[in-house]
Amino acid sequence: MTPFNQLIISLMNDSEEYFYHLTETDSTNHFALQILESPNTVHGTAILTDFQTAGKGQKGSRWESERGKNMLASFVFFPDFLQANELFKINQLVSLSVCEVLEDFGEVPFQIKWPNDVLYNNRKIAGILIENSIRGGLCQHSIVGIGINVNQEHFEFYDTPAVSLSMILGKELDDIPALTLRLRDRILYHMARLRMDDSYDIDLSKNYMVRLLGLNQLMLFQYEGKNQEGEITGVDKNGQLMVRFQESMTVVGPKEIKFILK
Ligand code: BTN
Repeated sequence: MTPFNQLIISLMNDSEEYFYHLTETDSTNHFALQILESPNTVHGTAILTDFQTAGKGQKGSRWESERGKNMLASFVFFPDFLQANELFKINQLVSLSVCEVLEDFGEVPFQIKWPNDVLYNNRKIAGILIENSIRGGLCQHSIVGIGINVNQEHFEFYDTPAVSLSMILGKELDDIPALTLRLRDRILYHMARLRMDDSYDIDLSKNYMVRLLGLNQLMLFQYEGKNQEGEITGVDKNGQLMVRFQESMTVVGPKEIKFILK
């Protein structure tokens, strides 16, 4: 099936970025990759679907979602001002943007479980899957896939305890496309600031860190084959997590450590 057979709405909004709303697709990240070469695919193009047949999660997992209940969206960006060693800034500003649009509903705190899950009271409300490409040492494109649990209320088949906006707010949200565009605009805002202002990454880091789950607290992790208590002390500039286990400082990547949440 070509990507456009799945299209139900394609509209150009005020800010001239394309917004595709599909009834169904395999994965919006895959759809984004397919339309990447199209001249209509500009910085900020958004793809939303009601259902994914092969939704992708982190570390090769699947992302499951009831039909029509949640935000399943991907955004295409061309942050060609970022060098290959600065890609973690995309994770930071995207996680922060998700927290900010969720906080706009009046509930806090949303927390970031490094590198970029968003939690509410230790339950996962949003997952992020970013697929970047590099050319000549610079970021060529970034496909940012985000799933937000919006109106789904049963998550019995999920590995991680989950929660949705409707469970938090006690009412359903009827405009998932509007939420998608608010999130896209938030990400665009942070990216534009980062492009224009060399010192903006300091603000970004600060705002990321205040939401970082477990910062300066003892938490339980699975690390090197056993459960151990450790304290997150920060995230380095390559996006690696800094954790102190007993007296030794360790720097870990996403595949090396697992949070054990109560
Ligand atoms: C995670 O494992 O936490 C990341 C989940 C990312 C899911 C979103 S849903 C929209 C986009 N399309 C996909 O196939 N995955 C991402």
